[in-house]
Order: sequence, then C-alpha cells, then structure tokens
Amino acid sequence: MESVLILGIESSFDDTGVSVVRAFSDGRFEILSNELALQDHVKTGGAVPELAARRHGENIVPTIQRALSESAVTPADIDVIAVTTTPGMIACLQVGIETARTLAVSWSKPLIGVHHMKAHIASTFAEHPHVAFPAVVLLASGAHTMLVRMDSAEQYALLGQTRDDAAGEAFDKIARMLGLPYPGGPEIARLAEGGDPAAFAFPRPMAHETGFEFSFAGLKTSILYAIRDLGGLEALSQQQISDIAASAQQAIIDVLVKKTMRAVKQENAKTVILGGGVSANVALRTQLEAAVLTVGYDCVLIVPSPGLFTDNGAMIAIAAAPRALRKEYDDPFSLTPVPRTSIND
Ligand code: KG4
Ligand code: ZN
Repeated sequence: MESVLILGIESSFDDTGVSVVRAFSDGRFEILSNELALQDHVKTGGAVPELAARRHGENIVPTIQRALSESAVTPADIDVIAVTTTPGMIACLQVGIETARTLAVSWSKPLIGVHHMKAHIASTFAEHPHVAFPAVVLLASGAHTMLVRMDSAEQYALLGQTRDDAAGEAFDKIARMLGLPYPGGPEIARLAEGGDPAAFAFPRPMAHETGFEFSFAGLKTSILYAIRDLGGLEALSQQQISDIAASAQQAIIDVLVKKTMRAVKQENAKTVILGGGVSANVALRTQLEAAVLTVGYDCVLIVPSPGLFTDNGAMIAIAAAPRALRKEYDDPFSLTPVPRTSIND
C-alpha cells in the first residue's frame, strides 16, 4: 500500500506543535509523534502576538528535533513538510512558514500549506476514515465558532459563524471574570462539575433565531452584571463561583447543540463532527451525543481523539495527507501567512 511520511508544523496561535504522521492511501493514519511546546499566558491572560511569535522562534527547532527523535525517523525519511499558513496571528504563522520553507529547501522536500480550521476538522478523520457524507461540522475553538457542511473529506461550505466572540473565547473571558487562569475552558469545566447549571438563567444568544450565526458577547456581559449584582468577585462563595461556571457552560452548550442540530436536520447530515479546542468539553460532547441520538435516522457523532482536540502538529499533517498522496505541492517561495480566511477558501 502506498503511504507518505509527513512532518506537520503548527504555529498559528500560541502553541508550537510538530508531528510526524504516516498517511496511507486507504485513509488510515499512524501518528508517530505529536510534540508540543506550550506557552504560558498566566501573567498576560492571553496571547500577545509579538511575544508569542518570539516564543515560537525559540521553541520550533527543539520541537522539530523532539518530534523526529520521538518517531525514530531522520530528515531523509520525511516525504513532505506541511505547515499552517492561515488563519492565525501573522507573526506566529510566519515563524512556522519560514522554518518549513528553510527545511524544505535545505532537505529538498516538497511543501504543502494547510488551513488551520480545516485541519481541526481533518484530525477527526484520523480514526474515522470512512465518514458518511453529507456531514455537519461544529468547529468551536478559541478564535472561531462555525457550522460547516462537508460533502467529501476535502469539500467545505460555511453554513454560519460567530458575529463576535468565539465559544472558546467566551469560556476564556468568563473564566477571567471569575479569577481563573487562562485557558479558561478547562477551568470552567472543572468548576462546573460542582455547580448547578440551572442556578443562573443566563441568555442563550441567537438560539431561537433561524440561520446559523452565533453571538457570545452578550452572554459575557450578563455574567459580568450577575457578578456585580452579587457584590463583586471578592464577595462570591466557592459555591457561587461553581454555579456561575456551570450556568455559563450550560448556556454556551445549549446554543451550540441547538444550532448544530438545526443544521443536521436541514442538511440531512449522516455524520456530525465536533472539532476545535472546545470539543475537549465533556459536557458538550455528552449532550451533543444525546441530541444526535434523537434525530430519527442513522446519524453518528465523531469527536477527535484526546491529544487532537487542541492545536497540534498531527492535525496539520493529517490535513495535508490527501494532497501529499496526490503529490500536489505548493511553491515554497509563494507560501505566505494569511491572518484571516474563510473555510470556503
Ligand atoms: O482549537 P484551540 O486549541 O485553539 C484555537 O485554534 O483557538 O482552542 C482553544 C480553546 C480555548 O479557548 C480553550 O479555553 C478552549 O479551547 N477549551 C475548552 C476546553 N478545553 C479547551 N473549552 C471548554 N471546555 C474545555 N474542556
Ligand atoms: Zn485551533
């Protein structure tokens, strides 16, 4: 069977990810290594582009070295280099692209530029090569929240996206209001386990509107007012903090699940795919799974495996696999960072 060995490089936001993946022509993948260098934003409460880019610059070569040694391959074994080119913070994308270009030229390897959001989706295919189409994808990360229709592993059509904050960003901002560290999603999820999701009736923005747009900025504001009305963060008991976390998480999940199921029914989707960092949220996965069971026809939910939820190099290599197998490469000197793109591009 034909296969290609791909070195995947991710540097679009804060974490540097490098992975070695073997992709087979029957759609299977073997992840030989998936190394990450995480950035610590506890002090800044978020990623600052210039600082993040500098850290990528420090981390990228050691991370590549770790990914190669962990997978026991040498540069000579690599067939193709894949790198994120869009969307993301321009200075961060630039570090990955320059490094990938330098390696491609000096090792004489072909190069493939990858769309970060498509890679989040493609990573779910790592363990599910035989997805039934059409599929509806809910992609919820720190920077994006969108519903996408897919008619094949390489055809993406945007159904709708957020008008303001992304779902992950809402988790991060609400966590910050509650005095919790960044990233906020895992912190909110942890506190929510001990809280009452019905304690606070936070709004479900746009849940009842037709169409597939989201908006999370209003939710954030109503939580800010709730904290203020209780006397400010310092006045809150641990239980109140947990209740706010649980109620906020439930409001976000309700909107995500409701909109996704509306898209599933409209598009007659046979598969529902959950992707992006927020898919690490267990309550979201459980509730979406329960909703998918009620559609009344054969429809399955696919979620990425642990380690593939949040940004990583393997998803970049996996996304590049169909093109790598077809030997459809990019000109290394024409690859440039593009901060914003649609999933339709
Ligand atoms: O996809 P990702 O790693 O990076 C982007 O491309 O944005 O997503 C990161 C986002 C952060 O906002 C983080 O708070 C959120 O995913 N996240 C979660 C959980 N784990 C990570 N949100 C909710 N629940 C979680 N367990
Ligand atoms: Zn991401």
